[in-house]
Amino acid sequence: MLKQEINELLTQTGPGTPMGDLFRQYWIPALLAEELPENDCAPARVKLLSERLIAFRDTEGRYGLMDEFCAHRGVSLWFGRNEESGLRCAYHGWKYDVNGQCVEIPSEPDERQSSLCRKIKLKSYPLVKIGDVLWTYMGDPDPTPDLPQWEFARVPADQSYTSKRWQECNWLQALEGGIDSSHVSWLHSDGLMNDPLFKGAQGNKYNLADRKPFFEVVESDGGLFIGVRRNAEEGHYYWRITPWVMPSFTMIPPRGDHPIHGHFWIPIDDENCWVFTYDYHPVRPLRPEEVQAMKDGHGVHNRYVPGTYRPLQNKDNDYLMDREAQKRGDTFSGIKGISMQDASLQESMGPIVDRTKEKLVSTDGGIIMARRKLWRAVEALRDEGVRPPGVDVEHQMVRSAAVVLPKEQAFIEGCGDALMVRPGVKHASV
Ligand code: FES
Ligand SMILES: [Fe+2]
Repeated sequence: MLKQEINELLTQTGPGTPMGDLFRQYWIPALLAEELPENDCAPARVKLLSERLIAFRDTEGRYGLMDEFCAHRGVSLWFGRNEESGLRCAYHGWKYDVNGQCVEIPSEPDERQSSLCRKIKLKSYPLVKIGDVLWTYMGDPDPTPDLPQWEFARVPADQSYTSKRWQECNWLQALEGGIDSSHVSWLHSDGLMNDPLFKGAQGNKYNLADRKPFFEVVESDGGLFIGVRRNAEEGHYYWRITPWVMPSFTMIPPRGDHPIHGHFWIPIDDENCWVFTYDYHPVRPLRPEEVQAMKDGHGVHNRYVPGTYRPLQNKDNDYLMDREAQKRGDTFSGIKGISMQDASLQESMGPIVDRTKEKLVSTDGGIIMARRKLWRAVEALRDEGVRPPGVDVEHQMVRSAAVVLPKEQAFIEGCGDALMVRPGVKHASV
């Protein structure tokens, strides 16, 4: 349970809010690279941390992210013409470069152009392609942190795949689903048996057999390692370890030789978030059938309303709930697909869940510690300007793991280096 003011503190991320200031300390995923597929392509609207922005790629291939609205009289630059190294407003032709600098006001006399333009600059942020993602940093440019080093974005392109989807609730309740792995044995039980990107792993057997997991949470430099233990063979436990790196990166423990997946939960505004979902293999290219399964919405990906990043199953169609399938036990909740099973329930809590009313139990240990760590970091930043965990790139070099260990061994010792990125070494997985 949280006090109302703490719930507000952690869920509000607009400009000037303490949590918004925290998010603005990090490089965060802004768009998929596929949204700006070529030079001079159509610009893309993007709302992040309650700011309405426009992203574009100019004639030279430079990326820009800036205020969506023209400095002249506030027209959306989404209608603009992306041409000759800048984005030109469709109303009176004012033109901006990728830094938001006004470079042309065609209606004004030539001799006034440069002095007038110089004074006009839209708010803008850097936009950098790493892997399949365009990343931005929306904080104070001095100092700008080092570029992100997440392994999924840094492995060769054929080893990684990223999608995104719009989720219609606050970022924190979506994140909390990512660090609460006790629900897997229930909500996702069908996926463990049938999903092409999950099935066949030895670990699934333990997952399904022991539905009373024990949580053990250990602090890491950037966040937490959330260990969840289930019974395995005589004298052994099956451990699944989920890293969470502040503020909103999670990595699901792997299954067999399947690629590893996870999420970034990025606030659009206080009642919506982007879920960026990656899948990668540290040492081999993804197989064509794996990539096809991801594109078809299997694993932790989903299908879309055509032409959008809104899931095809959404709250307007009750997520295509199938009561008969629920009754037969084909799926636990009647909803198909792991990501939509999560999204449907998390959105059902309302746009911002009232955490003053919840009743937490032992399997909520990861959530409790993550909130506490966020809260502490928000206060330390606000009150003393302390740089939060997860900004340093070393904090980003983590991996999830799924291992069987002797009962007497602590997971943090049993896993050792397996919880860190080891280039060229396969992830620890059963
Ligand atoms: S509103 Fe953009 S040029 Fe006038
Ligand atoms: Fe889930």
